Amino acid sequence: MGQKTIIEAIEEQEWLKTAGDAIQPAVVNAFEAGGEAGKQVKDMLHGAWLGHPLHPAITDVPIGSWTTAAVLDTLELMGEKKYVPGADAVVAVGLVGAVGAAITGITDWTGTTQERRKIGLMHGMLNAGAAALYVTSLLLRRRKKTRGTAIGLSMLGYGVVSFGAYLGGHLVYGKQVGVDHTATAVTYPEDFVSVLPENELAENTMRCVKAGEVPVLLARKNGEIYALAHTCSHLGGPLSEGHLHEDGHVHCPWHGSVFDLRDGSVVHGPATEPQPRFEVRVKNGQIEVRTPKKEKSKKAD
Ligand code: FES
Repeated sequence: MGQKTIIEAIEEQEWLKTAGDAIQPAVVNAFEAGGEAGKQVKDMLHGAWLGHPLHPAITDVPIGSWTTAAVLDTLELMGEKKYVPGADAVVAVGLVGAVGAAITGITDWTGTTQERRKIGLMHGMLNAGAAALYVTSLLLRRRKKTRGTAIGLSMLGYGVVSFGAYLGGHLVYGKQVGVDHTATAVTYPEDFVSVLPENELAENTMRCVKAGEVPVLLARKNGEIYALAHTCSHLGGPLSEGHLHEDGHVHCPWHGSVFDLRDGSVVHGPATEPQPRFEVRVKNGQIEVRTPKKEKSKKAD
């Protein structure tokens, strides 16, 4: 079975949809039950404060630790007994890191749907299975007569977590989870571009317009006109189809990320990257936008 076939086979599993339908709302409800504090915790776990998803950074801890354990275990099997304490220690460190990876991963998973959600669930189950193997291994490592079994379980866990990591990589590179969907190849306008007659943007409304190739969200709030990238940085949702709140925040219709119209900053995740904002002016009755001069370099790469 080729790589693509494995992914397709996972995507075809209806039981993953059923399980996701049951688990995902329960996790979302748990955060919502916490009110404003629950929102803050969720944003923190997504990595909104970091401007980058937190989950992939934390996964380096278990994967790095367990890779080290595999090397030290192999040396032990070759007769190098001095590495025994180190191997046991890194198995334990990996388990601590796995707890953080699991919590942040489940949080990010709440912002996925359809195939992404299925693959994410399989990714999580594999990693949970790997963690269970490492817990058992750690317990068995203490006794000399079960040490060989313990090392075997660790090796098996390493194989499982490696496949889980492959699925995690596919979620990022194949399904674009956790990447900034505003960082596209299109050229952001450096000079003012006319996008809409001013009288076609009513108070408290949002419109999607084009500045060259770039879809732009226009909104008018309290008489002020604001412009942000229209494509949600989380997974590409159309912001103009979301909600414009009284406080000047925009709510993405797909997974509920909230951005501040004034500067595009993330108010609530799952988005972690801000929306690029545009300078706005009205000239000869036309709304015109351009990339702010100091932010040009961000999209020029
Ligand atoms: S696309 Fe997911 S919150 Fe906007």
